[in-house]
Amino acid sequence: MTAYPKMTAEERKAEYAKVTKEYEDLKARGLKLNMARGKPGKAQLDLVSDIFDLMQKPEDYVSDGVDVRNYGELSGLPAAKRLFAEILGCRPEQVFVGGNASLQLMYDTISKAYTHGLLRSERPWCREPVVKFLCPSPGYDRHFKVTESFGFELITIPMTEEGPDMDAVEEAIKDPAVKGMWNVPKYSNPDGFIYSAETIRRIASMKPAAADFLLMWDNAYCVHEFEGDFVEFPDILAECAKYGNADMVFEFASTSKITFPGGGISCFACSEANMAYMEKLIGIQTISFDKVNQQRHVLYLKDKAHTLELMKKHAAIMGPKFRCVVDALDREIAPLEIASWRRPTGGYFVSLYAMPGTARRTLALCKEAGVTMTGAGATYPYGKDPQDSNIRIAPSLPPLEELEQAIAVLCVCLKMAALECLGV
Ligand SMILES: Cc1ncc(COP(=O)(O)O)c(C=O)c1O
Repeated sequence: MTAYPKMTAEERKAEYAKVTKEYEDLKARGLKLNMARGKPGKAQLDLVSDIFDLMQKPEDYVSDGVDVRNYGELSGLPAAKRLFAEILGCRPEQVFVGGNASLQLMYDTISKAYTHGLLRSERPWCREPVVKFLCPSPGYDRHFKVTESFGFELITIPMTEEGPDMDAVEEAIKDPAVKGMWNVPKYSNPDGFIYSAETIRRIASMKPAAADFLLMWDNAYCVHEFEGDFVEFPDILAECAKYGNADMVFEFASTSKITFPGGGISCFACSEANMAYMEKLIGIQTISFDKVNQQRHVLYLKDKAHTLELMKKHAAIMGPKFRCVVDALDREIAPLEIASWRRPTGGYFVSLYAMPGTARRTLALCKEAGVTMTGAGATYPYGKDPQDSNIRIAPSLPPLEELEQAIAVLCVCLKMAALECLGV
């Protein structure tokens, strides 16, 4: 197979006629497939549904002497704090266990910075003339939307295989209006990159001009390998503390992709000084979070080792799906030299870089053929991919047979869009 950019105009024309025919055939199947969001598939939800067999006896409602059915323990059940602390490698006193979604805790942290200010703020961010936030991109669309919704100016920081481009970060933080930075340090969304030790050292030792700089450390995929063994990661709280930055960081995690998205438990971890400050503010919002679900998760997940065993079972379901996607791309697209991608080993996405200027067209073609994918540009601030290239593939939800069809559609659409861009 000749690479498309090396084809003559005649060859491209013939190839375009061929792939258009394939596309029309696929379209005629009336497919309705969704690869838009990183949702676990039904088999994964079934896998963990025995969690509901727990908590049948009265003593199951008592944890460390606390009746989990009643008000109290604002910052979470001690046992739930111990569980997250063991997974994240920090201390239980540094953990606040919240409700069903870490995104809500992230939003709330930003929101509090805006309305009340953070521990080290001179004034609430709403009183600042401009607030800027660093967004390593491509990144998680919902992160960017949170900071956009508060009217912050989003600054794109290029992502590399080692994590965010730290030269760009170190330059940007000289501006006191730069108040924080989003991070997904392990299996970044969507690239699946793991921040290198050197990147983490440079982040932890930053000296931002803003005294209340907020390092948002979203460890959403901290135990989510689907290929190979568990990859250890450093405790970011200890790393930051080492460089006198103990109060700069808030780390987030949840069981959304361990048990149930939207039905699990979440946490943030921070310095004890930040914890005291946050507890005061959160204590006005709520008396306590859902400790019944916290207890259910403590009894079910038990500890880190047991959680990692469960993640192996998720991996047995997820691994073949990711292999199906990447194998199809390797087979169908690699020889054409119209896109690039890497083989992730954890997280929930495959990040594909289509020929610049073709992502939007590719996804429009997919949609017309019944395959919904994450919108073009979603992985960049303001939903605008300057290259119109990045496509986020979320292979977890469809069963394998459907996934095969969906990826076949994507491959044909990539080919059509590339040929159109090259000229047919
Ligand atoms: C990086 C990242 N953080 C957070 C979330 C959402 O987590 P939660 O369900 O705990 O709000 C997702 C979901 O896709 C994600 O990709």
